[in-house]
Amino acid sequence: MMDGIGTIRVTTGTGLAIELRGPSEHDRDILQQEYRLLSDGSRYSRFFTLSPDLNESTLTSLLSVDQRDHVAVGAMVESPDHDGARRTIGVARAIRLKGRPDTAELAVTVADDYQRQGVGTTLICAVATYARAVDIDVFTATLLAGNVAMAAVLRGFGARLVANADDRTIVDATLDTAVPAGRFEPELADRIVETLRPGIAT
Ligand SMILES: CC(C)(COP(=O)(O)OP(=O)(O)OC[C@H]1O[C@@H](n2cnc3c(N)ncnc32)[C@H](O)[C@@H]1OP(=O)(O)O)[C@@H](O)C(=O)NCCC(=O)NCCS
Repeated sequence: MMDGIGTIRVTTGTGLAIELRGPSEHDRDILQQEYRLLSDGSRYSRFFTLSPDLNESTLTSLLSVDQRDHVAVGAMVESPDHDGARRTIGVARAIRLKGRPDTAELAVTVADDYQRQGVGTTLICAVATYARAVDIDVFTATLLAGNVAMAAVLRGFGARLVANADDRTIVDATLDTAVPAGRFEPELADRIVETLRPGIAT
């Protein structure tokens, strides 16, 4: 639990215990702190900048989660560095495209010290599960051509990756949300939808 918001315990494919959650009133500080901890490589891969801080307009956009047109799931772990308190080590979000309401742009970030432990994969499964409940059938993602990590994660879900016709440094990915959503048992999927839905606090 965090500030009275509901969380769901899951175990990643590599056995890491994490808790999934929706938005929290502390996210402004958490997002900024975790951004500052990212390596230059992760920062650039996700935000296409090496700026030392998230700027106000990016923060405002990241905080505008309504769980309908902008859906997001965070992953937390118990952190010894945080006096036993939870640390948010990753987030997956999807923002519905204007003019293509069945499609949303996916973005994922996992803290460098928790990468390669199945967190990104689990977060995509969770955000896809919730996205399907609000009629998002397709994820698109824009990644740097050299982003082997995200490309590998997406390929693991059978995503289609195509070099951008106008900018060869960019790859455009398309993914049916049913594939990652289908990795969770129906009972877990139902709990994720109920817990992340706004207005449900436990
Ligand atoms: C992309 C990202 C979210 C992946 O998250 P993650 O938690 O590390 O990924 P997972 O542990 O779920 O990886 C699943 C599989 O993807 C592949 N993979 C992940 N990272 C990889 C890497 N750096 N190199 C090669 N394959 C990789 C592997 O097959 C991995 O399984 P394995 O570890 O059992 O071999 C993470 O690397 C990240 O936050 N990067 C910086 C931000 C970013 O690029 N975001 C995407 C832009 S939208």
